[in-house]
Amino acid sequence: MRPRPSRFLQLLLVVVIACAVPGVRCSDRRFPHLDRVRELQRREGSSSAEQEAAARGLLARLLPSHSTSFEFRVISTSTELCGGKTCFVINNHPLFDGEGTPEILILGASGVEISAGFHWYLKHYCAAHISWDKTGGAQLSTIPRPGSLPRVPDGGVLIQRPIDWSYYQNAVTSSYSFAWWDWDRWEKEIDWMALQGINLPLAFTGQESIWQRIFERYNISKSDLDDFFGGPAFLAWSRMANMHGWGGPLPQTWLDDQLVLQKKILSRMYSFGMFPVLPAFSGNIPAALKSKFPSAKVTHLGNWFTVDSNPRWCCTYLLDASDPLFVEIGKMFIEEQIREYGRTSHIYNCDTFDENTPPLSDPNYISSLGAATFRGMQSGDNDAIWLMQGWLFTYDPFWEPPQMKALLHSVPVGKMIVLDLYAEVKPVWINSDQLYGVPYIWCMLHNFAADFEMYGVLDALASGPIDARLSDNSTMVGVGMSMEGIEQNPIVYDLMSEMAFHHRQVDLQVWVKTYPTRRYGKPVKGLQDAWWILYRTLYNCTDGKNDKNRDVIVAFPDVEPFVIATPGLHVNTRQMYSTVPSKNYIRKDVSSDAYEHPHLWYDTNAVIHALELFLQHGDEVSDSNTFRYDLVDLTRQVLAKYANDVFLKIIESYKSNNMNQVTILCQHFLSLVNDLDTLLSSHEGFLLGPWLESAKGLARNSEQEIQYEWNARTQITMWFDNTETKASLLRDYANKYWSGLLQDYYGPRAAIYFKHLLLSMENNAPFALKEWRREWISLTNNWQSDRKVFSTTATGDPLNISQSLYTKYLSNADLLGLVEGTGSPWKSASL
Ligand SMILES: *[C@@H]1O[C@H](CO)[C@@H](O)[C@H](O)[C@H]1NC(C)=O
Ligand SMILES: *[C@@H]1O[C@H](CO)[C@@H](O)[C@H](O)[C@H]1NC(C)=O
Ligand SMILES: *[C@@H]1O[C@H](CO)[C@@H](O)[C@H](O)[C@H]1NC(C)=O
Ligand SMILES: *[C@@H]1O[C@H](CO)[C@@H](O)[C@H](O)[C@H]1NC(C)=O
Repeated sequence: MRPRPSRFLQLLLVVVIACAVPGVRCSDRRFPHLDRVRELQRREGSSSAEQEAAARGLLARLLPSHSTSFEFRVISTSTELCGGKTCFVINNHPLFDGEGTPEILILGASGVEISAGFHWYLKHYCAAHISWDKTGGAQLSTIPRPGSLPRVPDGGVLIQRPIDWSYYQNAVTSSYSFAWWDWDRWEKEIDWMALQGINLPLAFTGQESIWQRIFERYNISKSDLDDFFGGPAFLAWSRMANMHGWGGPLPQTWLDDQLVLQKKILSRMYSFGMFPVLPAFSGNIPAALKSKFPSAKVTHLGNWFTVDSNPRWCCTYLLDASDPLFVEIGKMFIEEQIREYGRTSHIYNCDTFDENTPPLSDPNYISSLGAATFRGMQSGDNDAIWLMQGWLFTYDPFWEPPQMKALLHSVPVGKMIVLDLYAEVKPVWINSDQLYGVPYIWCMLHNFAADFEMYGVLDALASGPIDARLSDNSTMVGVGMSMEGIEQNPIVYDLMSEMAFHHRQVDLQVWVKTYPTRRYGKPVKGLQDAWWILYRTLYNCTDGKNDKNRDVIVAFPDVEPFVIATPGLHVNTRQMYSTVPSKNYIRKDVSSDAYEHPHLWYDTNAVIHALELFLQHGDEVSDSNTFRYDLVDLTRQVLAKYANDVFLKIIESYKSNNMNQVTILCQHFLSLVNDLDTLLSSHEGFLLGPWLESAKGLARNSEQEIQYEWNARTQITMWFDNTETKASLLRDYANKYWSGLLQDYYGPRAAIYFKHLLLSMENNAPFALKEWRREWISLTNNWQSDRKVFSTTATGDPLNISQSLYTKYLSNADLLGLVEGTGSPWKSASL
């Protein structure tokens, strides 16, 4: 037993010791525990040579033509250069002497810092641009050839991080985006992280394999675990105890392969000097463990979105943190990971209460749960820091200040870092006395379920993290990106990752002007104008709503047409066929709302005008892959909202009993879905094929191929145990504007609904809601087990396709003009 010095003495000692050690940043003394772990990480981290090699490897992959142009060197944060902070310095190389000699010398406190410095140089001195491959990839054509690279100012460019941590991922990104990744894809992503300066990524891959070993020690068999782990596309939710068994069982080869993959991922992250965050035990246990320990304190959690609480996947078991078994398992899990991986960065994620409400609200109880949860981690690693997603504080009203405080203070201040997960829209830090003194990371959530929508809050990104850090008594220790899915909206991520290095608010007037130039590789005035419009519309969402995509095409309304409000319609000539008195119905129609209206926060005409500018100037950049991505995405966005309006017109015409018009508009809608499919097929970022093929690519035999493909198709359509006529609540949650999905699934689904609309009119009968559901669900289940192969390569010319769709749908609004009584927002669109 170590004697416990008083808290004050403990604090003082740590600071004094820490500051005496070279390499420790002493400017930030708010959280000595964190400083201590930083110091440990430095001592135990990869050598300078390894980190330099990692950055050189990245250079060779990204820009092989320039591999002799750059020299990279790791320096200590304590050098005069860094001034005790994490920093990078870009210098003209003193030995530069023409092509073939090094031109630019980048010094950085770690491999990540060097990579971020390299990116900074490419971005700000060569007008280059980096984005995910699916969003058009990198624009490197503006980088001059070796020997002619731009010089930086004499004396070099020093960038110090205002704050240490740069966090990446959400507990569900692993399933929505990474589910089927192989090492090649991971390697690219880790390079991307390094370029963006990310040093605190989650590393969740392969954990089931560790769990298998732990539970084996309790004589839990592989078949017991079959009922515990979710399928490959659903691991995020079985890890969080939301459900069990769905999509499983996991084949042993999956478990083994993912562990091998995890070791590669970790090893690469460490070589860059990143601090990967490993999972910790949250109490989530297989049912079999409960029967082995009948006296253990176990809570049977409630239903998380399953249809009929079917125990096959509903309602998992949570081991109470106060049970001695909890600490035992928690300890073993940490120790086994450290043993298997050979190292740790001492930061562990645990989200016991993510979308699971604790059984009691007594703060003492919550506090004891928190403390015991942490004890599980700490007994496996004495230096453990608990990283917790703060989503629960946004999502679940259970967490009132006393409960929040109890959880946050259940461990010594500085031993827990909270992610303020949705700070760009619903910051928790502002109303919680800075999370009651606990260090937090300002995170941008931005995306739900890897849906597609051109959306963002750029103003909040450019100022939010700065305001938070400079606020009185700030406890912010980092910035982060906690999106549920990646590979969308590159502008948002380009800006957000920069915020790790900015000390002052970014002037977006300037930044937004240079963005298209970097992105497309040349300045085009019309495209700058277009982006200026997009910045003020799509990327300035200030309504505070979650941008969960519920566009009609991808999330078809599952309601009786009469409950859909059609605000433009003043006279209802059609009666609702039900026993409900018509007065009630009219009230219902006006206020509506079984129907979740799609999110619309901007002036659609302005955005159509931006699309016109894209089309007018497209020829000037038509060979740019980044432009092609943006053009497809913008056309998709415009037509998606247009389709929402067409749908309302259909409902309106149905209500006014205009069968001819319903017929025409339904055809119009269905041809739009097919045309959109054609549009999407013209860029690799919008294809269903790669998702399915990569799933099959991880299979070791044909049986697994079938299982993995089914998992992949199910995640993006309808989860769980729909009954014949009851759809899962988790349907279309992870919807996708992907070519293949529109033509093969969303289109046929819309056709079923329309068929029933027309039947109802023809037969003068109520809309057959139950029949629609039966057919839709059966279509879905058939689609999920289908094996049709979809293209993994793009076809067609986006500019050409976009132009023709513009002409067909937007340049003349006659079709929508058919309907009286509403001003169509589409009329003024013209080139
Ligand atoms: C597991 O089973 C073995 C052999 O039946 C037994 O000796 C051991 O005590 C069991 N362990 C646990 C934790 O139940
Ligand atoms: C900051 O902390 C000081 C000292 O505890 C306190 O007096 C002050 O009110 C705090 N400021 C804010 C804005 O909470
Ligand atoms: C974004 O919207 C807010 C609120 O409507 C407005 O005050 C702000 O000026 C807008 N920003 C831009 C860049 O248009
Ligand atoms: C699109 O391509 C087709 C076939 O190559 C061509 O006939 C047509 O004129 C093009 N349309 C536009 C708008 O460029």
